[in-house]
Amino acid sequence: MNKEPLTLAIETSCDETSVAVTRGFTVLSNAIHSQIAAHKDFGGVVPGIAKLEHEKKFPEVLSQALSDARVNLGQIEQIAVTKGPGLAIALEVGIKRAIELATELKLPLVAVNHMAGHLFSCFVDEQDARPSFPALGLLVSGKHSEFLLVEDWSSVSKLGQTLDDACGEAYDKCATMLGLSYPGGPVISRLAAEGRDQDLLELEIKREQQSLFVIGNAEGTTLKLPIPMAFSGDLNVSYSGLKTAIKQMINDLSGESKKLDIKQTGQGVNLSDTQQRQVCMMFEEAALQMLILKLERALDKHPDAKEVWVGGGVIANSYLKQLLTEVTDRRDIVLRIPSSRAFTGDNAAMIGVAAYASGRGGEDGSASSPQGGGKNLIEVYQVGELEEVDRLPGWSL
Ligand code: KG4
Ligand code: ZN
Repeated sequence: MNKEPLTLAIETSCDETSVAVTRGFTVLSNAIHSQIAAHKDFGGVVPGIAKLEHEKKFPEVLSQALSDARVNLGQIEQIAVTKGPGLAIALEVGIKRAIELATELKLPLVAVNHMAGHLFSCFVDEQDARPSFPALGLLVSGKHSEFLLVEDWSSVSKLGQTLDDACGEAYDKCATMLGLSYPGGPVISRLAAEGRDQDLLELEIKREQQSLFVIGNAEGTTLKLPIPMAFSGDLNVSYSGLKTAIKQMINDLSGESKKLDIKQTGQGVNLSDTQQRQVCMMFEEAALQMLILKLERALDKHPDAKEVWVGGGVIANSYLKQLLTEVTDRRDIVLRIPSSRAFTGDNAAMIGVAAYASGRGGEDGSASSPQGGGKNLIEVYQVGELEEVDRLPGWSL
């Protein structure tokens, strides 16, 4: 007999409509409809469009998840849904469907913190999930850049975060300034990787008084970008200054240095392919080294940490994976990364797994019900309490 409940998980916090069927850490299906095409022309997610797309696509995605898992609704034993943080009107679509399903099927509903989903995404489909605690969590997505301390399956606290833009968002804005397509992460990382392969710049990290810079040298060119917050002493990061510096760099390279109001749309930007790759290399180096620097600082502050868990859309970046591996190899600690790219961006499988994982309580994982879950991670509602669910929480993760 399976002790873990067969879970139908729902995620609609931003621009992915996703439904999954999970049991414990195992994923039976993970259907995702991405709304990228609907938001592409706007260079970012438009909340009203996201809501309509979720409503339109939900029935299809639900059927897909059930048929891929070869189960029917009658077999489901619990519903899990992302309750926040995220876009309120997008979240509400998933929460409403989850309440309807839990009511109709008379099942418990587990409301899951979206960041807990990303945190536990490195365990999605892991058969042998026996981590050593404490662990440090690094979550980098389009909306979040966070450092977490994980003392147990249900005990997670925030150590630091971005003070303004998230790392993925900075990739997206940089892409828009270069006239590249949305989302910016994949295209910028591809161009930066091409630039590194072709040795288009020799990169170095240099300290000047209380500031840290990425310097890029090529014949006849020296480019310079700040790594903000490098010596702030805390575990926070900031990406807005980097965005301004990149704007200035594009402006200068385009030969429009007197026109400081360079459009953010990329229109009129006139860079050669080489210059474009060089800008991407510089941006990526500064954006990722900032995370690595703060991760090193977090590990210095928590020398008992035995593992680093990473999650979020930006983790799909292979250069980031390389930099992270260098840190954890050097310190001889475990690095846990989602086993598939499908679990890095927003997806319902991580929500189903988080509903289970954060309820485990003890290190041995003996508790299989979510009842004991940390209050920042999940909340469990029984049938008679479901009207409480759609009050959006002030979850701090
Ligand atoms: O986790 P996610 O799907 O959504 C949020 O919860 O925010 O993350 C999406 C973000 C986007 O900003 C996208 O540009 C970024 O992840 N991203 C990347 C890469 N692939 C996606 N950033 C850097 N390198 C990548 N390869
Ligand atoms: Zn996310």
